[in-house]
Amino acid sequence: MLMNALESAAVNNPARRALQRFYEVRWLTRLGGRLDGGRAVEIGCGSGYGTQLVVERMGASSVDAVDPDPRMVVRARRRLRRHANVVRVVHGDALDLAGALGAEDGSYDAAFDFAVVHHIEDWRSALDEVARVLRPGGRFYFVEVTSAALARPTYRRLFDHPEHDRFAAGQFLAELSRRGLEVGPRWKTFVGSDYLLGVARRADPTAE
Ligand SMILES: C[S@@+](CC[C@H](N)C(=O)[O-])C[C@H]1O[C@@H](n2cnc3c(N)ncnc32)[C@H](O)[C@@H]1O
Repeated sequence: MLMNALESAAVNNPARRALQRFYEVRWLTRLGGRLDGGRAVEIGCGSGYGTQLVVERMGASSVDAVDPDPRMVVRARRRLRRHANVVRVVHGDALDLAGALGAEDGSYDAAFDFAVVHHIEDWRSALDEVARVLRPGGRFYFVEVTSAALARPTYRRLFDHPEHDRFAAGQFLAELSRRGLEVGPRWKTFVGSDYLLGVARRADPTAE
C-alpha cells in the first residue's frame, strides 16, 4: 500500500532524515556491523535517503533498491544521482524481487527494510522473498512500525495502512525465525513497543 500525501510529508523531511541517520543506522550498524564491500538490496526505498546511508555510512559496494510508487522512484533516482555507478533504483514490488531486479536465490549479502513491511498486506510473503535473496550468513536489517503504533489515533486518522493482519514486535521476530532468519539478541523496540529495529542473520549450515 502506497503512502498518502500526509505520510509522504511525515517521512520525507529533515527530522525523519536525522532520526534515520543518527539513530536507526547507528543502531543497525551497532547490532549488525558494517557491510564493507557487500552487495545490498533495499525494499521500499521511498525517496532514497536510506539507500544513500547504506552506501555512505555502512559501506555497501552496491545497492539495488525497489519501490512501487513511481513518485518515490523519481525522487530516489534524483537523490542518488551521484551514486549512480553503484545504486540501481527500480520501480517494483518487494514481493517479486526476481521480476523487479532479476534477484536470484542467495544473491545478496544484506537486505534493508526501513519501515516498509508494515505497508505490505501479505507481509509474510515479503519476508519469504527477503529470506530467498539473502545468501547463507547474509543479514536482514529492519526498522518496523508495529501494530501498537498503527492503532494510535495519529496513524489511524492520518495515514493509510493495511487494516488486517498487522504484526506486533514478537510476531515479526517469530516469522523471521520461521524463515531461518535468526535475530537472537540483536533487536530493540523504541517509543515503547511502537517501533522495532534489529538485524537477522540467514542461517548458514556450513558455519561452525
Ligand atoms: C513509510 S515509507 C518508507 C520509505 C523509506 N524506506 C524511508 O524510510 O523513507 C514506506 C514505503 O514502502 C513502499 N511500499 C509499499 N508497498 C510496497 C511493496 N509491496 N514493495 C515495496 N515497497 C512498498 C511505499 O511506496 C513507501 O515508499
